[in-house]
Amino acid sequence: TILTLDFGSQYTHLVTRRLRELNVYSEMLPCTQKLADLDWKPVGIILSGGPYSVYEEGAPHVDPAYFELGVPILGICYGLQEIAYRSSTDNVVAGTSREYGHAIIKPKSFGGHVDSLFKDLGDEVKVWMSHGDKLAKAPEGYHTIAETGHSPFAGIAHETKPIYGIQFHPEVTHTENGTQILKNFAVDICGAKTNWSMGKFVDQEILRIRKLVGDKGQVLGAVSGGVDSTVAAKLMHQAIGDRFHAVLVNNGCMRLNECEQVHKTLSEHLGINLTVVDASKLFLDGLKGVTDPETKRKIIGGTFIDVFEAEALKIEKAAANSDKAGKIEFFLQGTLYPDVIESISFKGPSATIKTHHNVGGLPKRMTEGQGLKLIEPLRELFKDEVRQLGRELGISHELVMRHPFPGPGIAIRILGEVTPERVEIARQADHIFISMIREAGIYDDISQAFAGLDSNRAVGVMGDKRVYGYMIILRAVCSTDFMTADAYPFTNEFRKAVATKIINCVDGVTRCLFDETTKPPGTIELE
Ligand code: XMP
Repeated sequence: TILTLDFGSQYTHLVTRRLRELNVYSEMLPCTQKLADLDWKPVGIILSGGPYSVYEEGAPHVDPAYFELGVPILGICYGLQEIAYRSSTDNVVAGTSREYGHAIIKPKSFGGHVDSLFKDLGDEVKVWMSHGDKLAKAPEGYHTIAETGHSPFAGIAHETKPIYGIQFHPEVTHTENGTQILKNFAVDICGAKTNWSMGKFVDQEILRIRKLVGDKGQVLGAVSGGVDSTVAAKLMHQAIGDRFHAVLVNNGCMRLNECEQVHKTLSEHLGINLTVVDASKLFLDGLKGVTDPETKRKIIGGTFIDVFEAEALKIEKAAANSDKAGKIEFFLQGTLYPDVIESISFKGPSATIKTHHNVGGLPKRMTEGQGLKLIEPLRELFKDEVRQLGRELGISHELVMRHPFPGPGIAIRILGEVTPERVEIARQADHIFISMIREAGIYDDISQAFAGLDSNRAVGVMGDKRVYGYMIILRAVCSTDFMTADAYPFTNEFRKAVATKIINCVDGVTRCLFDETTKPPGTIELE
């Protein structure tokens, strides 16, 4: 196992992800982790980047004991500066300007272990830089192993020990062959085993959950039918069986037959202990007359909390009466890495807790450590890894590849007031659109697609009669991270076929409009 010490860079998780892609297991711990408190010995250590200056007051510094361990060390960006600063504080200077973006590095050859980090990379490597400070000189006992036009110390290596530092980020895809650098370090230099797999992740997580929850502890979690909450729930079920309680709240803004389907999948197929609460009337009553997008979200989020808490109390009461199990002490969240605003920096794990927008905010006692403790088994994974994990857990291809669906559901796809009638129209149109996308065999090529409803109406002629009807907005996007997105290029035939079918089949609709806006400036959802 490689130990990655996190100094708080937004890219640290990418380091562990790239290593997983190489089938190398890496454990990421806060940079304050003391070697003496570690009950295993890493084969190599990576010091990540971070947003600080090494000489800033309160800047984090690594436990010097790691340097006595005799295993290879790689410092990335802040990590490099930390290595240099340790040997002499005047090795690092504040850069006059931030160096941000692409740079070309030229590896310099010395032979022996010094050259092994850049093995098989060629004479020039396009890398990604993002730093303020830089090295003023190579620390004593180190060679410069790479330089750029801006910096003669873009890479350093100790002359006799396997200690390396690089100023750029090999973990981001903008660095060409960055994975090769990590492979050179982890596999060749550290000799890390390449036997990690998603199956191993499952085994490890199950053990970790069991240890955390204990023999009797119980866990509560909200599920939506989406990939993340389903995968997290299945993992939990595998670990502790019926001591995990899943709750699905029907907010009246879900897709056609969604509740029934989720119930069938989770309860019947996956064997998860699930309670479905139908609170649609409560949600829809609360949304009456509301048109402002943020207000809609707040109402849905607030109602969700009320309904969920009431259900949680019932489950807790029943649990307390059972002699088989103990108290409900934990709350499961299917948070993925991109949802985590702050990495587990040296501020400690509490800094990681964020209200997941999936459920529109959670009861305070579930997020502030006042009662329930959070379990987030997916928090180190990216979406595609969660899908891989889902497959590993035996979840169907269809569910694993499901497009994301927002917590507030159809409500944020209806411009203007959300009424039961308007939800039903959007729901029917959405069902037709998605079914046709599936029939055309392009569902997996699209990241997210849906039908929404415009706040205005338009005139149409139907059966010789003038009709004043609704306008459906159809949106389908391709995206890798949902931060940016492009419209999916449907064929004209497909568009026409969808528009015709929706207008023919959904009462009250006179128009279908296709939304081709990219994100940015548009968002994926309409509100
Ligand atoms: P936007 O509309 O911000 O959406 O471009 C980006 C991704 O986030 C999803 N989304 C939400 N998911 N609760 C959620 O669970 C929300 O309130 C919410 N708002 C947006 C959206 O579906 C897309 O995948």
